Amino acid sequence: MRVLVTGGAGFIGSHIVTALTKAGHEPVVLDALLPSAHPVTPEVPAVEFRHADVRDPPAVGAALRGVDAVCHQAAMVGLGKDFADAPEYVGCNDLGTAVLLAAMADAGVRRLVLAGSMVVYGEGRYDCPVHGVVRPCARRPEDLAAGLFEPRCPACGAALAPGLVGEDAPVDPRNVYATTKLAQEHLAAAWARAVNGTAVSLRYHNVYGPGMPRDTPYAGVASLFRSALARGEAPRVFEDGGQRRDFVHVRDVAAANLVALEAVDGLPAGALSTYNTGSGEPHTVGGMALALARACGGPEPVVTGEYRLGDVRHVTADSSLLRKELGWRPAVGFAEGMTEFARAEQRASAALV
Ligand SMILES: NC(=O)c1ccc[n+]([C@@H]2O[C@H](COP(=O)([O-])OP(=O)(O)OC[C@H]3O[C@@H](n4cnc5c(N)ncnc54)[C@H](O)[C@@H]3O)[C@@H](O)[C@H]2O)c1
Ligand SMILES: [Zn+2]
Repeated sequence: MRVLVTGGAGFIGSHIVTALTKAGHEPVVLDALLPSAHPVTPEVPAVEFRHADVRDPPAVGAALRGVDAVCHQAAMVGLGKDFADAPEYVGCNDLGTAVLLAAMADAGVRRLVLAGSMVVYGEGRYDCPVHGVVRPCARRPEDLAAGLFEPRCPACGAALAPGLVGEDAPVDPRNVYATTKLAQEHLAAAWARAVNGTAVSLRYHNVYGPGMPRDTPYAGVASLFRSALARGEAPRVFEDGGQRRDFVHVRDVAAANLVALEAVDGLPAGALSTYNTGSGEPHTVGGMALALARACGGPEPVVTGEYRLGDVRHVTADSSLLRKELGWRPAVGFAEGMTEFARAEQRASAALV
């Protein structure tokens, strides 16, 4: 299969290119090498490479020639610096997706695998001992300032137990990035209906592993901790460190993309299928910092009590559907993955220029 991988010079995209090549497919990469993602120019992938923006219709049209499927990874990621980033997020992620889908419609390419995200779920799923499954409101700034980090039941104020989020959970994007990731899915579903195409969104959990960018406002928490440890500093853990996440290894995410691309013809046409993509093994952010610090032989983490308003407390996926329907199995365990990550190269950042 000839597969256009947008964002194929990025962290996850480059692992997908490797997985596709190993499986005997023919990846073509289109990437704008965004300065926020690549403060220093990266090595371009050793496959057909187009230095272009997904918002550029002629460039995307040219890249689609002879392509059987698209694996759409290009996006601006993370929380960004502040709200001033919003137009650029919406431009890259949503206008970019719309341009890509229009070009696919035009070129007759009918298979799409999209990099989705768990951020579309917002605060995840919680159970109240009295009210059952509830959706907590956004946490109040005054609670956070007082160190009250756990969301409470909106009906009775009781402490809630976090649960596993299924694909049918209501969506609730809480920041600009999350909003753009949800809009990408809506656009993909509209495209699938309009052209009778088949679209899959893999809603990744927190992806980590070799090639993860160093600390930038756009990077994930594992990379911030890893960068601190590389400087000989203790990882600084926000809140009380009890935030639950699912850290999934980048090679497992690449394998999920491969599985989805190979299975796409068997999935319902004219629709978007969504799959949570997590290891199935939740950990706390504090626990992850400790595992990484020990694997690096660095100082123990410091719990700072700081917080960010856009952050959610707990979100952990139920990724059993991807296992059941597409036969995907994550292969890299948490301890093994963190030990490797502690020693792995990260992608260069502006701080090193
Ligand atoms: N890293 C995670 O934990 C995570 C979690 C959930 C979802 N995702 C999604 O996975 C995908 C890949 O993320 P990543 O972590 O590899 O990020 P990344 O920043 O390493 O890679 C994204 C790549 O997309 C390119 N890009 C961005 N905007 C572009 C545009 N307008 N035109 C062409 N190329 C553009 C960038 O240059 C970069 O190479 C994204 O869609 C992201 O939303 C990532
Ligand atoms: Zn209650």
